[in-house]
Amino acid sequence: MKITYLGHASLSIEAHGQTLLVDPFITANKLAAHIDINTLEANYILLTHAHQDHILDVEAIAERTGAKIISNYEIVTHYEAKGLPGHPMNIGGSWQFDFGKLHMVNAIHTSSFADGSYGGNPAGFVIQTAHHKVYIAGDTALTYDMKLIPKLIGALDLAILPIGDNFTMGVDSAMVASDFVQCDTILGYHYDTFGYIEINHKKAIAKFAKQHKKLILLAIGSYVKI
Ligand code: NI
Ligand code: MN
Repeated sequence: MKITYLGHASLSIEAHGQTLLVDPFITANKLAAHIDINTLEANYILLTHAHQDHILDVEAIAERTGAKIISNYEIVTHYEAKGLPGHPMNIGGSWQFDFGKLHMVNAIHTSSFADGSYGGNPAGFVIQTAHHKVYIAGDTALTYDMKLIPKLIGALDLAILPIGDNFTMGVDSAMVASDFVQCDTILGYHYDTFGYIEINHKKAIAKFAKQHKKLILLAIGSYVKI
């Protein structure tokens, strides 16, 4: 799997020859000005919740690429009404796609569209291919439910956790989340985009290192391979 960081909580994941775009919020992110959404490929668009900083560029990318939107029932219904195809899921469910098995897991947060309409429950995902498992937490607080992930799905290769604090977990909570999901390799996301979530990179990496954990902070546009 190749995981490219597109800024904020946006990711592009190559798995089994398919490209999965996660929570595309790019055109309004000044830090991601060098990312052109017109060049992004997508077979699927995974959405964790309906907040604008996760769905802003969905329509433009889905219309151009024909990507299938995978999210909760409410969000998929919202886009299907606009003629964009989707696959509805809900928390606790799994589905075998051509890229692998996708699990929708709990997140503690809120989920409303920009106009205030209901966006279903927020969620995280676990992508499980033949060889790898990656947890994408979405916007969430630290929750004991994270302990269920390794128990139900098995050992993770990478956990992608929000670390910006204020709206989600911060660095200290993310270290506990790393324990709960039994994964010591963390890709941080949902930080620096706006003032409320700016973090000190060196301090965050050092905190994780002190607990023998690896916090990866990618430059926007760069990637990790697992
Ligand atoms: Ni949110
Ligand atoms: Mn957010």
